[in-house]
Amino acid sequence: MSETVRTLSFDEVVDRLLQKREPYHQNYRAMYSTWYGGIVIDPALMMVPIDDHLVHRGDGIFEVCKCVDWNVYALDRHLDRLEYSAKTASHPLRFSRSELIETILATIRTGNLPDCSIRIFLSRGPGGFSPSPYECPESQLYIVVTTLKTPAEEEYQRGVSLRSSVIPIKKDYFANIKSCNYLPNVLMRKEAVDAGVEFTVSIDEQGFLAEGPTENIGMVTRNREFLVPRFDRILRGITVGRVMELAESLIGSGDLAKTAEADLTPEDAYNAAEMMMFGTSFDVLPVVNYDGRRIGDGQPGYFARKFLELLRNDLRNCKEMITPVRRM
Ligand SMILES: Cc1ncc(COP(=O)(O)O)c(C=O)c1O
Repeated sequence: MSETVRTLSFDEVVDRLLQKREPYHQNYRAMYSTWYGGIVIDPALMMVPIDDHLVHRGDGIFEVCKCVDWNVYALDRHLDRLEYSAKTASHPLRFSRSELIETILATIRTGNLPDCSIRIFLSRGPGGFSPSPYECPESQLYIVVTTLKTPAEEEYQRGVSLRSSVIPIKKDYFANIKSCNYLPNVLMRKEAVDAGVEFTVSIDEQGFLAEGPTENIGMVTRNREFLVPRFDRILRGITVGRVMELAESLIGSGDLAKTAEADLTPEDAYNAAEMMMFGTSFDVLPVVNYDGRRIGDGQPGYFARKFLELLRNDLRNCKEMITPVRRM
């Protein structure tokens, strides 16, 4: 075997990279890398060194935000959470907030798509293959701009199905860091696909509902209370957090009785009037079935529609929540 495995020259590798054209590459628009010192647009070059501890230890943190019609939504909140994750996971931030924003906006401009996803990775950096972060001289920043994938309109009209997950949940301290250790989340995603449902939801050791693989859940009870699982045990989602703020207007109008974090069981969900999922890419999706039981009347409900409308209005019109990509 080893005699037939060739050692490649530098030029041969470059040639091979130039040949690498995969169908999914068409979604990759631009990547900024401190390792390269700039932005690349050829998907074949969107790579991370294997000795970056991000690769072999999952030692990195990340954020995913979106740009809609040339406006990045909730960028400051995503960067606040990035800073929180960095501090909690002892990752030094080499950049000021304004430098980070400038680099993100420059990468989006290069990607040249009005609607796109932006993934920001802060890695421990290259430095060897041990688990010790002390062998890495410098952390790295990678920003990737891709097309924005959103569910088909009929998913909002029809609603989605949910199952309880059997994958053990991350402990609160780790659940709160958006780290690149996403194996439980990956297994939950696989679980959902294998079960033929859109999402599974994790249950904590006390039997309380936690979160989806990369989204939060919430419910409106028959007493019109908008309740979400407690954020001390799950990732504090920016989408659901913003919906809770916007839903205050529905308390004022008498539609909702209150919004709150609560200890919620699957039984609470089965008996809810409505249930929904929240996440950056799709905003709000109504849940019509959970563990094979119909939620509410089995149709997307008033509050799921209302929350989506409030959020969509916010991301187009709320000046404090949006960062324009193009300078006027
Ligand atoms: C584990 C987890 N929970 C919840 C969310 C939803 O958060 P957000 O609304 O900020 O996208 C995400 C998304 O990144 C996630 O990874």
